[in-house]
Amino acid sequence: MSNAIKKVASKMTFPHKDFLGIDALTTGDIQTVLDLAEYYVTQNRRKSQTNALLKGLVLVNLFLENSTRTRLSFEMAAKRLGAEVVNMTAEGSSLKKGESFTDTLRAINAMLPDILVIRHSEEKSAQHAADILDCPVINGGDGTREHPTQALLDALTLRRHFGKLEGLSIAICGDILHSRVAHSNADLLTKMGAQVRLIGPPELLPSAPHTSTDMDSGLKGMDAVMVLRIQKERLQKKLSFTEDEYFNAYGLTAARLKNANTNAVVLHPGPMNRGVEIDASVADDPKLSLITTQVEMGVAVRMACLDLLTRHKR
Ligand code: CP
Repeated sequence: MSNAIKKVASKMTFPHKDFLGIDALTTGDIQTVLDLAEYYVTQNRRKSQTNALLKGLVLVNLFLENSTRTRLSFEMAAKRLGAEVVNMTAEGSSLKKGESFTDTLRAINAMLPDILVIRHSEEKSAQHAADILDCPVINGGDGTREHPTQALLDALTLRRHFGKLEGLSIAICGDILHSRVAHSNADLLTKMGAQVRLIGPPELLPSAPHTSTDMDSGLKGMDAVMVLRIQKERLQKKLSFTEDEYFNAYGLTAARLKNANTNAVVLHPGPMNRGVEIDASVADDPKLSLITTQVEMGVAVRMACLDLLTRHKR
């Protein structure tokens, strides 16, 4: 960071011990994270990508559910800020010997980490961690409930593309019922003045306002289309349709995207199932797809979160 940027960034405040969900954030908090993340986008694109802001601090990356993007980007974010990172997964841990989640958290707390990121398949697991840990806790995805840093990186991606969030119309399509990404995004985007429409088959839609079960008519008037995979690991019962039937009715193809506004863009949090919820020609078209940008923004947003939540240490 240049000295001028450092001066502005140092004045940004985030009055929370933990970051567990979008529901606890004000529009000002969201703005702060996005503005600070902008600085880190610039840093990450420079030749020299690192600084020593978090030198001497240790991040514990506790991933008890699979992840590629979230886990790696938190690790990269911490390292770009000069912190050490310790990774832990369920495999190879004493959870496999029958140790409880609570005792695992108590053991980690006794090692005095400086910040912890947790991903877990159960709702409220991040809250449980925050209740036990003395250090700040960031929710990296808890069951179907919240994935707040994903919503922030999506918001940053959209704000950079459109120059604003307010007034945008955004469709979130697919398995809304089981998606923490949908929940956090709907909450954040609505708070920031965007209109959100949820589109999906009846069995994967919650009873909520602004829903549609028809993809073609549902996309009308949309500026951006966020496509989600079916969360097979969270389904309670067998779906009434095959993957081919789903693709025919809800898969995002270039032809189907024409129902949305001219110049509408496409997002997907990943991992993608090409040929199920999205056609490869859409996902890979740089004129339509912001999917790679989302991943890049993920590192910057997570750097901003780590920076803001560790300020009491510096
Ligand atoms: N978007 C997201 O959370 O991806 P990962 O599961 O790969 O972390």
